[in-house]
Amino acid sequence: MILVYFLILVLLQVNSNYAVDEYMFIGGKVSKSDVDLVEFPLNLEYMEAEFFLWGSLGHGLDKLAPELADAVVPEVNTLSRLTSIRYFMFEVVRNGAIKDTVAGFPRPLLNLSRESFATVMNDAFGHPLEPSFDPYANDINYLLASYVIPYVGLTGYVGANPKLHSPTAKRLVAGLLGVESGQDAVLRALLYERGKENVEPYGITVTEFTNRISELRNKLGRHGNKDEGLKVKTKVGAEGKIQGNILAGNKYSLSYDRTPEEILRIVYGSGKENKPGGFYPNGAEGRIARSYLGHGGE
Ligand SMILES: *[C@@H]1O[C@H](CO)[C@@H](O)[C@H](O)[C@H]1NC(C)=O
Repeated sequence: MILVYFLILVLLQVNSNYAVDEYMFIGGKVSKSDVDLVEFPLNLEYMEAEFFLWGSLGHGLDKLAPELADAVVPEVNTLSRLTSIRYFMFEVVRNGAIKDTVAGFPRPLLNLSRESFATVMNDAFGHPLEPSFDPYANDINYLLASYVIPYVGLTGYVGANPKLHSPTAKRLVAGLLGVESGQDAVLRALLYERGKENVEPYGITVTEFTNRISELRNKLGRHGNKDEGLKVKTKVGAEGKIQGNILAGNKYSLSYDRTPEEILRIVYGSGKENKPGGFYPNGAEGRIARSYLGHGGE
């Protein structure tokens, strides 16, 4: 019995030490350029948080974490009841982690309406889908809409990491990258299982949807092939040997990287970092994104 108490005591001790370290760690000093780089992904995190929150609970950050929500999100109506609850929990926590490290900024205006996702799909196929794509209609549509988001964040974290100076910022970005990759992997694996199914009423397979979305992102990013759907040419697949492509990676099987500029081009849907639109009607927030607005003309 005494041994058990002792063990519990030791465990408690370990736990509380860990909590203190973690806290001090998150509170550490971060250089100015690091602040810009660490703040930038908040734009995507807000979006993911809102999207997964609405999808699983039917309400957004305003209700769950009012202090995180400082702007208005257009309401979405019918919502898929996909059990994505885990995802948004991560997102909420992560918004908190970024904001504990840097000042952060209020949530930018987001457009997560059906029309917004329908536009992405139309652009991906090069013509309007009939009827227009509804991300909230059923599980597979919701999963496909989910495919649109975390991967972009993942490439952003890979791109940001080598530019960071402080250990605090590096630790934060590594932690965010890890979780973002996990989300992307779960979503891609779920989609992969259903790859051969048709998305109705279009008669187009799930795999084809992912390939088109990835091609669109490559086109908008304007920086080569950094995005791959669930099926690729054999020579592009892992070790140049397989077509099935649950994880996207370069020829060394490492994650692709993207700059904030490439990411803005993609999430604005405009192919231009100075031309907001898409999911961010008024543009993204933070010094990096704002530096492009009002420069180079819209
Ligand atoms: C959201 O996006 C859709 C499709 O592009 C557009 O029709 C609608 O006006 C946008 N809403 C806002 C508030 O920007």
